Parts: sequence; structure tokens; C-alpha cells
Amino acid sequence: MIGKPLQIGPVALESNLMLAPMAGYCDLAWRITCRELGGVGLACTDLLSPHGLLRGNQESLDLARTNEFDQPIGMQLYGADPKLMAEGAIWAADHGATVVDINMGCPVDKVVKKDGGSKLMCDVPGAVRIAQAIRKALPDRIPLTAKMRLGWDEQAVDDRCAETLACQLTDVGTVAITVHGRTTEMRFKGDCRRDGIRRVVEAVGEHTNGTVPVLGNGDVKSPEDAIDMMRETGCAGVMIGRGALARPWIFRDAWGLQTTGTVPPRPSDAEVACVIRRYFDRMREYRDDHYALHKIRTRVSWLVKPLNSRESSAKPLQQAIRTAEDAQAVHAALDRFLAGELRAGRGAAATV
Ligand SMILES: Cc1cc2nc3c(=O)[nH]c(=O)nc-3n(C[C@H](O)[C@H](O)[C@H](O)COP(=O)(O)O)c2cc1C
Repeated sequence: MIGKPLQIGPVALESNLMLAPMAGYCDLAWRITCRELGGVGLACTDLLSPHGLLRGNQESLDLARTNEFDQPIGMQLYGADPKLMAEGAIWAADHGATVVDINMGCPVDKVVKKDGGSKLMCDVPGAVRIAQAIRKALPDRIPLTAKMRLGWDEQAVDDRCAETLACQLTDVGTVAITVHGRTTEMRFKGDCRRDGIRRVVEAVGEHTNGTVPVLGNGDVKSPEDAIDMMRETGCAGVMIGRGALARPWIFRDAWGLQTTGTVPPRPSDAEVACVIRRYFDRMREYRDDHYALHKIRTRVSWLVKPLNSRESSAKPLQQAIRTAEDAQAVHAALDRFLAGELRAGRGAAATV
């Protein structure tokens, strides 16, 4: 499947790469930033509460916000009540979703305590009923997908929980499955287990005669990792989350490597600074300065990573952005960096 764009039900994607949902990270501004750089076949919202959407809760509406540049877009729902999930799916369909995804992988207490997220993997018939209810409620043009882990714990892995659930989900009209190669108990620790992903790929392939793609997810941090994931698991596509935080052009690079055999040249410092500026300004545009300043402070250590070199570190720039009191100060810090300031020489005097 290397170099082959994905087909998710009736929706043809431009690549086989997906931007992963990451609560608190994957807002509209971030999705557009990654898309603009190229290679993103599908991006997904953070997990959304159907209850919040239906009640018009401002936080849920902000998380679900999309626009004409944010296409195709998956809206991810979490919960355990089939009726509520189906109503949430209709809301998503009415508010711009190209795809509706069910969260079956979240390990966070707040979510699993209410039987949602990866807790759904502990009740395969219940999870299948949710998918069935959503599929019945959605118009045909909107495909249903699910994102899961390998199971709750080692016992679930031995019991082939992910294989069973994935196959049964396809029986009720789920047309793509993403598998994060860890159990719930592993959370984000330990290595992503590609052998586990491979087993789901093989089971779903056999069960559906290869008609339902399985995407592999976990620890893909470079274009080469994406190809290794596909080679080792046989997956049809790859979902990338944390690997995009410092390099939102990873999709462009991974797609370039698949389709041309080469990775495009690494962006210059000026291009990286431009990516940071545009991301920041989009957050201001889609939300407000307060939100943008808060988010850029929490993200800046990732964003400046590519600006570190053997000769100098971008730590002073990071510090200047983190302490910026207004939007102008963020832009001024980037200007100073590009003028050769706000760099710390490695072993030499810092140019702050
Ligand atoms: C901070 C954070 C938030 C996440 N939020 C979600 C979420 O809302 N929905 C979801 O399905 N997965 C979520 N995930 C899991 C990611 O989508 C992905 O499966 C995981 O990070 C492994 O992929 P990666 O190694 O490419 O990051 C989250 C992960 C992190 C680190």
C-alpha cells in the first residue's frame, strides 16, 4: 500500500496519512497548519462529547469548529450510549464532518470511568451496538471509522480482543479502523507493538477480503518510520500524532518518500518561523489572543525544536515566546531570531 492514497468508504483521500486526534493539540489552527504543508489525507478533531455538542456547550463547539480549508475532516465522538452517540453523529454530519470516528482508545480516567474510550474494548457487543446505531443514523455519504488500541491489557491481547472487535465493527458498516499499537494499561509507555497491529491488519483483511483499510498508529516520528510501519504491519495507511508536533511537515515528507523515493529538503529557519507565525495567527483568528498565547506557550518547546542546530540552540527564542505578554511580542521574538538574535551558542556566548 506504499504510495497508494486511501479510500474510506465513498471518500477518496489524497494520501494514506492521517493527522491523529490529540486532545488539547489538534484544534482547527493546527489541522490547517499541517494540511497547508501537504501530505495530510485526513485530519481529525479531538475527541468530542456528543452531550456537549447537542447542548451547545461552548468548549465542545470550539473543539468541533471547522471551515472550508479543513477538508476532509473526521469528527471523533466518545461515549458509551448508542442513542446519544448516534445523535452526536447526526450533529457532526450536519456541521461539516466528512467522516465520523468512534473513540475506542482513550485511556484517560475521566473517559473510561464513564465506559467510553478504550473501556469500549472491554465490551465488544456494546461497542458494536454503538457503531451500528451511528451507522443507521448517518447519511450514506458519511463513512464511519473507529480508532482503538490492542485491548485493555495483556490478557485482552492474548484473547485477540482488537482483532475480534475490528472484524465485528466492519460487519456493521465501519469502513476503516485505526489501531494504536499499545494496550490501555500501557497508556503511552513502552514500545508501540507493530506485531499487534499486524494481527489486526491480517484479521480484517481476511474478514473483509481486503475492502476495509486498517491504519497503523504509534511512535511514527519520521518518513522512514511511516514506511517501516507499513512494511512491518501491512497496514494501508499511517496515523501520526506526536511526530507532527515538532515537524508538521512530516506528512509532506512521508508522502514524498512514498511516492518519489526522496524526502523533500528540510525547511529553512525562515520557513519554520513562518510556520510558527501562521499557526499562532490562525489561533488568534479562529479563537482569540488569549487562547493563542496560552497554546503557543505550551507548544513552543516542540515548535522550536527544528530551529536547534549543531552550532546554536533556540532556547532563548523559546523563552521569549513563553514569556511574551501579547501577540506583538511573539512576532517580535521571531523577527529577532531571524535577525540572528535569541540564539544560544553551544559552548559559546549566547546571542540574547
Ligand atoms: C496529549 C494526547 C491527546 C490525545 N487525544 C486523543 C484523542 O482525543 N482521541 C484519540 O483517539 N486519541 C488521542 N490520543 C492518542 C493519539 O491519537 C495517538 O494514538 C497516540 O499519540 C500515538 O500516536 P503517536 O505516537 O503518533 O503520537 C492522544 C494522545 C496524546 C499524547
